[in-house]
Amino acid sequence: MTVLSLAPLRGLTDAIYRNTFARHFPGFDLTVAPFLTTFKGNKVKSAKLDDLLPENNRDLPVVPQILSKDAEQFKVLASMLFDLGYETVNWNLGCPYPMVANKGRGSGLLPDPAKIAAFLETIADMPCRLSIKTRIGRRSSAEIKELMPIFNAFPLEELIIHPRLGVQLYKGEVDLDTFALCLENSANPVTYNGDICTLADFTRLSTRFPEVQRWMIGRGALCDPFLPSLIKDIELPQQPLATIKAFHDELYRLYGQRLSGGSHLLGRMKAVWFYLAGSFTNSKKLLKKIQKINKIESYPALITHFFAEEAQWHHPSPLNEDQA
Ligand SMILES: Cc1cc2nc3c(=O)[nH]c(=O)nc-3n(C[C@H](O)[C@H](O)[C@H](O)COP(=O)(O)O)c2cc1C
Repeated sequence: MTVLSLAPLRGLTDAIYRNTFARHFPGFDLTVAPFLTTFKGNKVKSAKLDDLLPENNRDLPVVPQILSKDAEQFKVLASMLFDLGYETVNWNLGCPYPMVANKGRGSGLLPDPAKIAAFLETIADMPCRLSIKTRIGRRSSAEIKELMPIFNAFPLEELIIHPRLGVQLYKGEVDLDTFALCLENSANPVTYNGDICTLADFTRLSTRFPEVQRWMIGRGALCDPFLPSLIKDIELPQQPLATIKAFHDELYRLYGQRLSGGSHLLGRMKAVWFYLAGSFTNSKKLLKKIQKINKIESYPALITHFFAEEAQWHHPSPLNEDQA
């Protein structure tokens, strides 16, 4: 059985995006939400949890994610999430950005196995189950080798591995040999994450790692929202372009209702198009035009024209990919 999850992308896969995505494009079984950070004390601004309120997350099961190096604060937030109905929370050990990692959070914790072990010990009595999303190290893949026995001592819902180093950010190749080593040595279910952009990518990886059942996809699905359907062999709609347009239009309407001010809405739609443009063979011109817009009033006509007159939807069929 193949379990597919939509990766968290902060600034993109918020509740509106992930639920709208799931209403238009089948194939994902769950998603991990972009990270929440912990805070001092026991009070949290309710706006911080809005994105995770059950009523805003009806269309796709979601696992909330926490970025923290403070186990006590993690427990407080995890308990709040448990009270909202979440039985599993995810710990972010992957965030590569220097602002985060330099403060010993996200991938910045990976060189410190003792801290990770102490953290896990402290949160062991929290009410919810834990999953972890990790890179293979901050500076060296030797780091994950030291961490595997520590992860193994803790019963995880899943260990999601993006086999890059923190210092790589998103550059360079994924390190499949190190992923293979982790897989071999993991007592917990392992999820693969990283650079699955086409069915051919998925086929190559699932052939090399037949024992992996859980796969997480981020950018590839935001570029080609039919990718989960292709992987799961779910029939595509008769009019794929109309489905993409309906998805876009609903995002635009829902963000318009939620975000205050045209510039926020425009910024959000620019972020959506940064990836969604990948669904079209001829979207370069559109992307340039969108980037140039500085008021939301110019946006609808541009997009309407694109979908009506220009959009060339490009779906790499399995056959085309095999030939590639
Ligand atoms: C803009 C952006 C935001 C991200 N935000 C998060 C996040 O909040 N939490 C997290 O664990 N990973 C985050 N990631 C990493 C992705 O979840 C994923 O691990 C990474 O993109 C590799 O998978 P992919 O090649 O399928 O996209 C982010 C990545 C990007 C590009």
